[in-house]
Amino acid sequence: IQSTITLNNGTVIPQVGLGVFQTPDGDTTVNAVQTALEAGYRHIDTAMIYRNEASVGEGIRRSGVPREDIFLTTKLWNDDIRSHRAKDAFQESLDRLGLDYVDLYLIHWPADGWQQAWDDMQEIYASGRAKAIGVSNFHEHHLADLLANSDVTPAADQIESSPQFPNQPLIDAVQAKGIAAEAWSPLGGTGGSLLGNPALAEIGAKYGKSPAQVAIRWHIQRGVVVLPKSTHAERIRQNLDVFDFTLSEADMAAVSALDTGRRNGSDPDNFAF
Ligand code: A2P
Repeated sequence: IQSTITLNNGTVIPQVGLGVFQTPDGDTTVNAVQTALEAGYRHIDTAMIYRNEASVGEGIRRSGVPREDIFLTTKLWNDDIRSHRAKDAFQESLDRLGLDYVDLYLIHWPADGWQQAWDDMQEIYASGRAKAIGVSNFHEHHLADLLANSDVTPAADQIESSPQFPNQPLIDAVQAKGIAAEAWSPLGGTGGSLLGNPALAEIGAKYGKSPAQVAIRWHIQRGVVVLPKSTHAERIRQNLDVFDFTLSEADMAAVSALDTGRRNGSDPDNFAF
């Protein structure tokens, strides 16, 4: 049985979703999405800038899983924020996906102009074509700015978090505001060394689980929505097989202690794209 989180507008989000950043457009993405849905995933996380929305839509259709059973997220890219194209960009995403709504639409980064984008997203939400709206890569000060100028609290803030960079103070602050925290690069990202860390293997051995499964379970037990990426069918399936064990408090702390203080990606206060 998968776990879910209820967002602040009543929408329910499955806690584990397939991430498709750096999943190449075409068959690779179609197959990853179809494999995930057939394995029981009901949550896919993409973005305009991943350039694979059309393949995500195709994978959804090929899976045969009813649209209404799937939670789909996409994101508004920075160029479209800066040029105040939120509404057009959203429709373009829907067209590429071949869908008439998404479940969650996020401001991808706090690029200049995001305040107007947030107003536009509220109109998109009111139109029913996004069932929830939120942000990504927002620090506490961005959220404070947003909340001081809007009556609408974002449903989610998707941020970098993994055992090597837990980002725990931000996650605590986000959750305290009733905003769901979502983790990107939850396994330490492409080419990362986290999954080779012997501490994760040692903990996993106690439960008969892999390092990736330990990391995913750690996210779940922190109340975080976790978006592991893989293009390999076996790993995609493995990453959802995390609901039959519970990490002890000591093991949760041991995973948190892998914090290196180093991000895998950009700091939202200093990004160059
Ligand atoms: P691959 O797509 O080749 O399977 P993140 O989700 O933090 O971005 O990290 C994903 C990275 O971890 C990818 O490089 C992915 O590679 C790899 N990965 C995902 N799931 C597993 C797993 N269960 N075991 C080992 N590596 C995994």
